[in-house]
Amino acid sequence: SKILRQKYLEFFASKEHKIIPSASLIPENDPTVLFTTAGMHPLVPYLLGEKHPEGKRLTNVQKCIRTQDIDEVGDNRHDTFFEMLGNWSLGDYFKKETISWSWEFLTSPKYLGLDPKKLAVSVFAGEEENGIPRDNEAAQIWQSLGVSEDRIAYLPRKNNWWGPAGQTGPCGPDTEMFYWKGDGEFPPAGSNPGTDEDHWLEIWNDVFMQYNKNKEGKYEPLAQKNVDTGMGLERTLVALSGFADVFQIDTFWPLIQKIEELSGREYIESIEVTKSMRIISDHLRTATMIMGDDKQVAPSNVDQGYIVRRMIRRAVRHGRLLGINENFCDKIANEV
Ligand code: ALA
Repeated sequence: SKILRQKYLEFFASKEHKIIPSASLIPENDPTVLFTTAGMHPLVPYLLGEKHPEGKRLTNVQKCIRTQDIDEVGDNRHDTFFEMLGNWSLGDYFKKETISWSWEFLTSPKYLGLDPKKLAVSVFAGEEENGIPRDNEAAQIWQSLGVSEDRIAYLPRKNNWWGPAGQTGPCGPDTEMFYWKGDGEFPPAGSNPGTDEDHWLEIWNDVFMQYNKNKEGKYEPLAQKNVDTGMGLERTLVALSGFADVFQIDTFWPLIQKIEELSGREYIESIEVTKSMRIISDHLRTATMIMGDDKQVAPSNVDQGYIVRRMIRRAVRHGRLLGINENFCDKIANEV
């Protein structure tokens, strides 16, 4: 994880991006949501036109929390706290540079060196009723880089539109990058995230933020065209390492090992044990990150504090299912 973070920042610094720190997990500018959900979230005022003190090209590693998928935690890829590697254009470069740099970073032996034959992409299918065309421009750029037509999925808003982060704000069509996780070394001809969703792991999303969703729910064109990208650190490590799930990467595995030690059970013992260990490690990691954030939120009955309490309570319940009866949460928190 350390090497991936470094390489990402180094790559975008070499493309004249300024490295900025991660913002707090508790949003500054947006009372409509409890947590920072994406790297773009703290940058909303700048995506709307305010001048950023560091310029028009930014990059960082942002701590993020998304709790809407909490019931999915326990499968091989969902987590409530994750690190997002991001690069932004605030009214500077647009589709061509963004897509070309994403491809270079993913496939260049100097950076991630992923096999292009195991990558596929999706682009926005368009929405006639809102006057938004299919993103042929993005598809053409992918093709010019060597992505074959059968690896490009054209998908609707549900898949290929991102934002706003809260109720209103900047948003737009996106293009997403996926890594092959199906059987066999290479995907069969014709397979892509549209035809075979379950076997492709989304690792990176490039959003072309050209619209603002206003209070009436209307999409108005933004004065400046922005780019917002987000690469999932945990999932990209899965692609790079060949592990079967995100819980085996180096920011999770020590937590699983500690749970194995405390329970005397094995991660791969049964589906139930695997699931409980994933839930405990995810939830206590998230609770620790919220309590350890600059804004330090304690467990409580309201707002972010309620989420902390809920995470701990669920972790304790799964600890009991594994036969851990002692008070164990602090031991996992120390590992985090
Ligand atoms: N904001 C975009 C996302 O979270 C990059 O996927």
